[in-house]
Amino acid sequence: MIEDTPLKHLAVIMDGNGRWAKERGLKRTKGHEKGADAIRDITTYCADHPTIHSVTFYAFSTENWKRPKLEVEFLMKLLDTYLKKELPIYQKHNVRFQAIGDMNGFSKSLQKRIKETEELTKGNTSLTQVLALNYGGRAEITHSVNRLIQEGKKSVTEEDISKHLQTTYQDIDLLIRTSGEERISNFLLWQISYAEFYFTPTLWPDFEVTELDTIIQNYTQRTRRFGGVK
Ligand code: IPE
Ligand code: IPE
Ligand code: MG
Repeated sequence: MIEDTPLKHLAVIMDGNGRWAKERGLKRTKGHEKGADAIRDITTYCADHPTIHSVTFYAFSTENWKRPKLEVEFLMKLLDTYLKKELPIYQKHNVRFQAIGDMNGFSKSLQKRIKETEELTKGNTSLTQVLALNYGGRAEITHSVNRLIQEGKKSVTEEDISKHLQTTYQDIDLLIRTSGEERISNFLLWQISYAEFYFTPTLWPDFEVTELDTIIQNYTQRTRRFGGVK
């Protein structure tokens, strides 16, 4: 057990919705629907966990606009429905909702839903659930540097860049990616510098709390050295 580095911030790349649907002869959109449902139990588990204070889910990347228009439109609608349905659940489990990414890419009504959900849950304290929406790690870092330039900085420190990231939350302790792909796909590039990685072949819609529990057990067996000696 790594007492000095408890799991505080978990990040999840929810991948494999399309393949889940394909395996069943269904449309990709069905996979996304099932995938959205899978987020709830994982969030509740995190809210009840003694050390996790934040969970960040990758829901839509800056590169996902390359997908067919109909799929993108479906995902936007699904996000709106998800947030609407989720609000009472956030309140019940004392979960704060936050979004990271460039919300300007979304419709005015979706932006409003996101803002409202953030506003209505901002006093909740058991967990922060972050959804990365129209998010890219490079875009986030570039944005931070541009803000520093606007402030007139001639040179910047790591701390300066960290402070101007969209969210100034702590580094990631554990990053999980489902579906067997072993890549980062432009997620939280700055925040994962010393994250532990776990790749599972499970497709996101099939990912359950029992597996998360096993992965967390595995995390607690690891030795995190951060470049030092232990
Ligand atoms: C992840 O599942 C969800 C999003 C990126 C929105 P995918 O849609 O990428 O599913 P696969 O990778 O095609 O199976
Ligand atoms: C990463 O999955 C983005 C999200 C899960 C939102 P992708 O399916 O878009 O990633 P690639 O294209 O396989 O790298
Ligand atoms: Mg994918």
